[in-house]
Parts: sequence; structure tokens; C-alpha cells
Amino acid sequence: MEASALMQVLHQLPKTDDPALLVGTETSDDAAVYRISDDLAVVTSLDFFPPIVDDPYTFGGIAAANALSDIYAMGATPRFATNMVCFPRKLDTSVLLEILRGSTDKLREAGALLVGGHSIEDREIKYGLSVTGFVDPARMVTNSGAKEGDLLLLTKPIGTGVITSAVKAGRLSEAGASEAVSSMLALNRGASEAMIEVGVNACTDITGFGLLGHAFEMADASGVSMVIRSGDVPFFRGATELVLSRKNRPRAIASNMDFLKDRVEVSPDVTEAVELLLHDPQTSGGLLISVPRERAGDLRNGLEERGGDAFVIGEVTRKMPRTIVVEGA
Ligand code: CO
Ligand code: CO
Ligand code: CO
Repeated sequence: MEASALMQVLHQLPKTDDPALLVGTETSDDAAVYRISDDLAVVTSLDFFPPIVDDPYTFGGIAAANALSDIYAMGATPRFATNMVCFPRKLDTSVLLEILRGSTDKLREAGALLVGGHSIEDREIKYGLSVTGFVDPARMVTNSGAKEGDLLLLTKPIGTGVITSAVKAGRLSEAGASEAVSSMLALNRGASEAMIEVGVNACTDITGFGLLGHAFEMADASGVSMVIRSGDVPFFRGATELVLSRKNRPRAIASNMDFLKDRVEVSPDVTEAVELLLHDPQTSGGLLISVPRERAGDLRNGLEERGGDAFVIGEVTRKMPRTIVVEGA
């Protein structure tokens, strides 16, 4: 749902004061972290959504990669997961079997177990998982530690919202979407391992609020501002053309822009297409990592050794009137 409405609701809930809760709802982080002992904490998160691709096996894999991503963003190791299924009575159960096969295979790739779940009847399919991971609290990575001078690294291109909407609208072939689909299926595991090895200040994964929305959350939680150089942000092939047609735009682009309008300053030389894509809601997006400048080279090498991409897209500055500043090419 929209960021502004969600924040309003969450702020009305009673606060918890349990010292074992290391990360709760206050900082809009990717997952909650609860300390069990000095060197062990449980990390938990859940995510679910309607199909964004036609093939049920692929949808299951994307849903699992997406749900696992919140655990990876905290620098944690996913251990087990439970299913959340909404499924129409009139649909053949072979569709559900394919979704669950895709998801289970992806969990196996992550080294996590499927241990249960819950299903209800609904008019349309929705699927997702609650994932639990473990982390040493001394090594966890939150979204609130970004420091002035850090470089910002992004590990996947942007544009899955526009690409999947264009396929649904019949304006892009499945083949045209294959780059984005492979990206959504790719685990953020290697990126997470690389950042733990190098030591970074903050991380979040890019999902429904778009690149700028999640950058804003990280900057806001860290008490800093960020400069994003839009010319260095990678986009999926075709995304900059497709986003110019309203029919291909996910509705969340407009609500994400509305939420950020007083918080983000966009330089006049940023094109309309690029500005729209910076707000595009992502599914199973990459990690946005705030890394001390002197370690950025090591992080990049670590990511590339594991077969991942690393794009330096900007830097962290002291707090400015606008939390995020987007520069042109
Ligand atoms: Co997240
Ligand atoms: Co999430
Ligand atoms: Co139940």
C-alpha cells in the first residue's frame, strides 16, 4: 500500500520496550530482529502479492526470491519459511503445485527449508512467504547506519514494475521481459555475503517504494541525505521507452512520487522517463548498500566474484533540506 498511509497507521500502534527487540517498526527496516543470545538473533519478515508473470513456476520462484531478500538485506542467513496462499476455488490445483514447486526450488537454492504455511480461498491468487533467518547481532546490517562520505552501491537494474505491467498490457513480449524476469529470480545471497565480508554501514533492498523511496527510508533512518546520480542508475532494456506510455505505468509510480514530492529534489536536467523509473515499484529488486568509500572497491570485487553486478549510483552527504537530491547525467 502507499507509504504515507502505512506510516500513519504504524505510528498509531503502541511502542514496544523489550530490549531484546533490536529492530522493530520505527525505522522502516526490511525485517525485525530479535536477540536470543549475545551472538544469535532471529530475523523475520513476510511478503506476498498477486502474480506478476504468467508462468506459475516462475511466479513462485520470484515470490520466494523477493521474500528472502529482506533477510539478505539485514546481512542474515535465511533458515526456514512458511507459505501464505490465497487461491480461487475455480482454478486447477496444478497451478498451485507449480507455484509451490517454483518457490520450494528457490528456497532450496537459498539453503532454507519450507516448514509450513496457511491457505485461504480468494477471488484472485496471492502468494508469498514469511521467512526467518539467523544473524550474529554484531554483524547485522540495518538501514539506519549510513554515514556522510559513504558511496551508494546498487546490485540490480531498475524497471521491473514497468516491464511486468507492459507484458500484462500486451505491449511487451515475454522474451522482451526475460532480462527483468531473470533479475527478479536472482537471489540477493551473493550480494549479502559480499557486504558482510567487506563490512558496510547500511543496506536495504529495493521493492515497492522504488529506488528513491527506499533510499529515502535509509537516509531518513540514518539522519543523513543522499545524492543519486541518475546517469549512473542502470535500467532494464526498453524501460525508459515503455514508461513514457501511461498504460505501462504501475499505479504505485504516482503514489510513490506523491509521497516523496517534498522530500526529494530532482534536477531539471533529469528526463521525465528517468524520473518516473526512479519511482518504479520493484519486485525482488537489488540491494542498495551504503559502504565506506575506502571499502567500495573491495565490495565491488566481492560482488563481481560472486557473479553479481555493482553500480555506484551516488553518495551519502550530511543532512540537507531535501533528504534525497537527484542529479542529471
Ligand atoms: Co525490504
Ligand atoms: Co518486505
Ligand atoms: Co492455519
